[in-house]
Amino acid sequence: LYVIHIAAEMAPVAKVGGLGDVVSGLCKALQKKGHLVEIVLPKYDCIQYDRIRDFRALDVMIESYFDGQLFKNKIYVGTIEGLPVYFIEPHHPDKLFWRGKFYGEHDDFRRFSYFSRAALEFLLQAGKKPDIIHCHDWQTAFIAPLYWDIYTAKGLNSARICFTCHNFEYQGTAPASHLESCGLDAHHLNRPDRMQDNSAHDRVNSVKGGVVFSNIVTTVSPTYAQEVRTAEGGHGLHSTLSTHSKKFLGILNGIDTDAWNPATDTFLEVQYNANDLQGKAQNKEALRRDLGLSSADVRRPLVACITRLVPQKGVHLIRHAIYRTLELGGQFVLLGSSPVPHIQREFEGIANNFQNHDHARLILKYDEALSHVIYAASDMFIIPSIFEPCGLTQMISMRYGAIPIVRKTGGLNDSVFDVDDDTVPSQFQNGFTFLNADEPGINGALDRAFNLYVNNPEIWRQLVRKDMNMDFSWDTSAAQYEDIYSMSVARARATKK
Ligand code: ADP
Ligand code: GLC
Repeated sequence: LYVIHIAAEMAPVAKVGGLGDVVSGLCKALQKKGHLVEIVLPKYDCIQYDRIRDFRALDVMIESYFDGQLFKNKIYVGTIEGLPVYFIEPHHPDKLFWRGKFYGEHDDFRRFSYFSRAALEFLLQAGKKPDIIHCHDWQTAFIAPLYWDIYTAKGLNSARICFTCHNFEYQGTAPASHLESCGLDAHHLNRPDRMQDNSAHDRVNSVKGGVVFSNIVTTVSPTYAQEVRTAEGGHGLHSTLSTHSKKFLGILNGIDTDAWNPATDTFLEVQYNANDLQGKAQNKEALRRDLGLSSADVRRPLVACITRLVPQKGVHLIRHAIYRTLELGGQFVLLGSSPVPHIQREFEGIANNFQNHDHARLILKYDEALSHVIYAASDMFIIPSIFEPCGLTQMISMRYGAIPIVRKTGGLNDSVFDVDDDTVPSQFQNGFTFLNADEPGINGALDRAFNLYVNNPEIWRQLVRKDMNMDFSWDTSAAQYEDIYSMSVARARATKK
């Protein structure tokens, strides 16, 4: 198959969170299976282009429509993780992707609806004939209605559209007038079965457009796919998802096991594997030294958390876990940052209090290299999310031998199984889970983890080895995507005959 992914992120060059990891991990896995895979991204100014192999400008200018005018776009190409990636640079006076960051601008809706239209225009003008166009999250969900309304008539008509929503909390809504900016007809407005937002009727909703107009809609775990079909979990889209449930399914993400491999990870002081946990202990030592934490007790457990600090992630429980860990005699390291000013300020306050503490450190920034070191150094890893579409950090932490302590929700529920849960075969039991999003809930799981770590070191080591050997690669999930792509393409061919 010929598959083109159009997205706002791709690791390692343009990563804000898990979306970036998934776009490169899934694309690499599909390429490995023999498919032709290409990616289209905005040409952000904050990417280090000198690190991209064979990066160059193409000798073409693509004109695309926006706000009643045509704008020129320069196209660049390069190879990332062995994958061909195209970058679109709009020559637009608002300097759409020249902002020093990926998101969080007041005009994000305009920026990404412009990009969605320009990306399709590029495919059309470059004569590309993909079998599948795969778009991700609200930023490129717009592709689906644009494709059927405008581009099939122009001749870009070989493709089926697959839309993956990584998080239904972020839907991309805007006043109805914005729809016309990228050339979509007013027939989408005031239509509950089209792009009209389900609660604010004078607004359009990009994710809803992706759900309604794509041939295949996925989200990133089976449990989350169930949760978003309920009124409590659907962020207002549950009725739309139920209407379209025949084409909607949850496929659990994998992780890129080359990028996340403690045996080859060059960010680590010492590489290690499941048969050599001494190497893991050396990384713990190195992190304690670098952060100025006490090294007096080798056996003192190190609990970590690496996350965006947003309400979804259970910030109040993360804060609580710091104090509980100290009460239990452990050490705590947090690496995270928040786009929400009051949360960032709150954690800055806590970080200051612990500045010279022997057993806790909060590092409030995004730092890829440090994240690898923390996964390798820690014994336990907490993820007390209120909801979690998939979550990658539980899989990464297991690969590095840090035992996950998670709330049973979304993808965490599909990948972490409690060591004390007799209903689960023992080969799958790999962590500690809790249900109630409150202090007693997380205490219960944290206390059980400490108890096992302190009182049964040999059983703990066996658990670490088991987790490190679990298969969280993309192989199985990429095969599921391959199946749904193929089925959709076959169905389209059958109806054309
Ligand atoms: P989400 O996409 O909701 O943020 P995921 O668990 O899917 O959550 O993915 C988070 C990804 O971002 C992981 O690769 C994690 O290691 C990384 N990450 C999160 N916060 C930071 C940070 N402050 N520094 C470095 N990496 C981070
Ligand atoms: C979103 C979700 C996260 C998921 C990631 C990749 O950011 O919050 O749970 O793992 O996308 O799909």
